[in-house]
Amino acid sequence: MPKQITIIGTGYVGLTTGACMAYLGHQVVCIDTNVEKIAELKSGICPIYEKGLPELLSMGLETERLSFSATADLDLLQNEFIFLCLPTPQAEDGRAELAAIYEVAESVKSSLSSKAIVVNKSTVPVGTSKVLSEIIGREDVEVVSNPEFLREGSAIEDFLKPDRIIIGADAMEASDRVAELYSNLESPIIQVDCASAETVKYATNSFLAMKVSFVNALAAVCELVGADIDSVAKGLGTDNRVGSKFLQPGPGWGGSCFPKDMQALVKLASDSGYKFELLEAVVDANAQQFERIAEKVKKAVGKPLRGVHVAVLGLTFKAGTDDVRNSPAIAVSQLLLELGAQLNFYDPLVKSLPKGLSDGIVYDSAESAVANTEVIVILTEWPEFRDLDWVKFQRIAKEPKIVDARNLLDPRSLRDIGFDYTSLGRK
Ligand code: UGA
Repeated sequence: MPKQITIIGTGYVGLTTGACMAYLGHQVVCIDTNVEKIAELKSGICPIYEKGLPELLSMGLETERLSFSATADLDLLQNEFIFLCLPTPQAEDGRAELAAIYEVAESVKSSLSSKAIVVNKSTVPVGTSKVLSEIIGREDVEVVSNPEFLREGSAIEDFLKPDRIIIGADAMEASDRVAELYSNLESPIIQVDCASAETVKYATNSFLAMKVSFVNALAAVCELVGADIDSVAKGLGTDNRVGSKFLQPGPGWGGSCFPKDMQALVKLASDSGYKFELLEAVVDANAQQFERIAEKVKKAVGKPLRGVHVAVLGLTFKAGTDDVRNSPAIAVSQLLLELGAQLNFYDPLVKSLPKGLSDGIVYDSAESAVANTEVIVILTEWPEFRDLDWVKFQRIAKEPKIVDARNLLDPRSLRDIGFDYTSLGRK
C-alpha cells in the first residue's frame, strides 16, 4: 500500500531514497533548506551526477508522486514516515558530527503526527537512535534506523536491488511498518535492534575498506614473489567465504564515506573502551598506499621528480561519479607535487583544480594533458581511458611511460605499442 513519506535532506542519499520510494509507488516530499537546489529539483534538474537519477526524478515529478519543498510546513511533517538523510561529517577528533540531525529532530518533534516513525538513514554512531528518541521525547513516535548502502555511481541499482535491507528498531511494530515500505523489492529484510543496525553500517564500510587494503597489500607481495594479483584475486575471490567484489587493487580507498566511517568506528570503539588496532592498521595501510604509488612514479621516471612533467588521468575518487572528496587521486597527486613534479590533469567530469591540490593544470582532453610529459599516471578507473588513442600518446609523450595505478589497461598491448608500463602486482 502506498505510504506518505517526508524526506529531510536532499544529498545523494535523500534524493536517491526519495526518487526510489516514489518509483516504488509511495507519495514522497523532499525538504531541504537550500532554496536554489529545491527550485532546480522542482523543475526536474538533478543537482548531482548519478546514473539513472535524472530519469527517476522526472518520472516522480510527472506522476506527481515526488515533490520538493524548501520549507518544512506543518502539513509536510504530518506524514507517517519522516526520513532523516542529513550529513554527518567528520569532526576534528574523528567522531561523526551529529549537530544537523539533532537540530532537525528538535525542530520537527512537536509537528509530528501521532504514530509517526522517524527513520534515520544517515551514518551515525551507535546509540544515536536512542538519543533521537530522547530529543523527540514522544511516546507516540518511534525512531527506526535504516542505514543506506548506496554506492555513488550505482545508487539507484543499490536501492532497488539491495543485497539486504537492514531495519533497526526497538519496537517490532515500527520495524514491520518500515519493512512494508520495501514490500515491492525482492531483497531479504533483516530486522534487528537499533544499536545493531547502526553497527552494521560501520561494520560493512570498514570491512570493505579492509578488503581493498588487503588486496593492495597482496599486490605488493605479488610483485616481490613473482605472482600475479589478477590470478590471485580470482582464486581468492571465488571462495564464497571471501567473495569476488572489492578485490580490485588501486591507489587506496577514498570518497566521502570510507575514510570518515573508518575514523568514526575507531573513535567510537576507543570511546567505548576498545582499541581497534586492526582498523587503525588499515587506515595506516591506506596512507602508505598513496606513498607506494608516488614511489612507483618516481621509479618509472628513474630520477628525482623535481621539474618533471607528469600527466595524471583521473581525479574523482572512483569512476562513475564527479565526486572528488577524499579522492586517492588527489592524495597521490599532492605527494607528487611535494616531490616537485609539474602536473597536467585530465578527468572526464572534473574541469577545474579541486580542493586539496596546491598546483597543476586541468586540461579538457587527455591528449593535451599527455603531450610532452615524461610519465602518465592513471589514478581513476574511468573505462573510457581504455579507448584513448594510446598509439598516438606513445608518440606525443616526451617519454612513453605509464604507471597504471588502477590496473585498467592491458599490459601486453601497451608494451607492444612501446610503452614502459607499470601496474600493481601484475606480471
Ligand atoms: C561506500 C559503500 O560501498 C556503500 O555501500 C555505502 O553506502 C557508502 O560508502 C556510504 O557509506 O554512503 P562509495 O563511497 O560510493 O560507497 O564508494 P565504493 O564504491 O565503496 O568505493 C570506495 C573506495 O574504494 C573508492 O575509492 C574505490 O575506488 C575503492 N575501491 C573499491 C578499490 O580501490 N577497489 C575495489 O575493489 C573497490
